Amino acid sequence: MSKLSVDHLLGIKYLKNEDINLIFDTADHFKKVINRPIKKVPSLRDITIANLFFENSTRTQTTFEIAAKRLSADVINLDIATSSQSKGESIIDLINNLIAMGVNIFVVRHSMPGIPEQIAHNIENKAHIINAGDGNKEHPTQALLDAYTIKCYKKKFGALKVAIVGDIEHSRVAKSEIYILNKLGVKEVRVIGPELLMPSNISELNVRSFSNMNDGLKDVDAILMLRIQKERMSKDTVPSEEEYFKAYGLNEERLKFAKNDCIVLHPGPINRGVEIDTLVADGRQSVILEQVKNGIGIRMAVMEKMAN
Ligand code: CP
Repeated sequence: MSKLSVDHLLGIKYLKNEDINLIFDTADHFKKVINRPIKKVPSLRDITIANLFFENSTRTQTTFEIAAKRLSADVINLDIATSSQSKGESIIDLINNLIAMGVNIFVVRHSMPGIPEQIAHNIENKAHIINAGDGNKEHPTQALLDAYTIKCYKKKFGALKVAIVGDIEHSRVAKSEIYILNKLGVKEVRVIGPELLMPSNISELNVRSFSNMNDGLKDVDAILMLRIQKERMSKDTVPSEEEYFKAYGLNEERLKFAKNDCIVLHPGPINRGVEIDTLVADGRQSVILEQVKNGIGIRMAVMEKMAN
């Protein structure tokens, strides 16, 4: 297999295991490339990539841009706030105009679930769409880089217990992580958090649910921490930060319930003192910045295997 089985990356749900393995193998190669003195390869020369971020981003947008530049693509970061969207132009019209200008790949983040799928459906195969996070639905490249980071440290997935902690309901990262970890055959995917922040269909997602942090963390190999997604909550759902940290914040004492070599991941942005203590975020078991770095290789792999 030398190419992805899909024209668009809309969600982990749509990927075959062969796709995931191809992305991981290609990321291994690019990881070496980006550590060389000459970091660029010509793979996507003459390809134009547009970053369309209708929601804020630091890590995803920047690593997509760096990844595209390492592949020698031309990159456009459209400033949505100053684009003709503010004059009432629809997203599909915006995309079609950019396709007419020669854009080949769109990286799209939107607060509304399903927007990348809607775009892909409307443009057929005139360009590739990569979902960079749609509402609380999916964030596939984040899950790919998280699972890849786990693989870098733990090598195989079959014997692992992995805990996803926090606001599962409002997190697109959590959904994509649950899908990918199950596809990769992780022994046990756990979700830990208050009942109020669990999706109503959690029993259908092949996970073990815990409302008690210490019980859920017992003997896990990796912990994926999540931010409380206040921007997607109604005011009465937002827990007090102090109470939340007391019950679900990851501190050094709680981390001892996990295996001694357990790694701690967080997709960012992290809120110190809310979901994670500074001593853990910067501690020996944290691989948070390694995750960010892996985001470049994974996004290079996704774009290269999609366009070539
Ligand atoms: N992990 C993630 O999506 O971070 P950004 O919002 O900074 O892109």
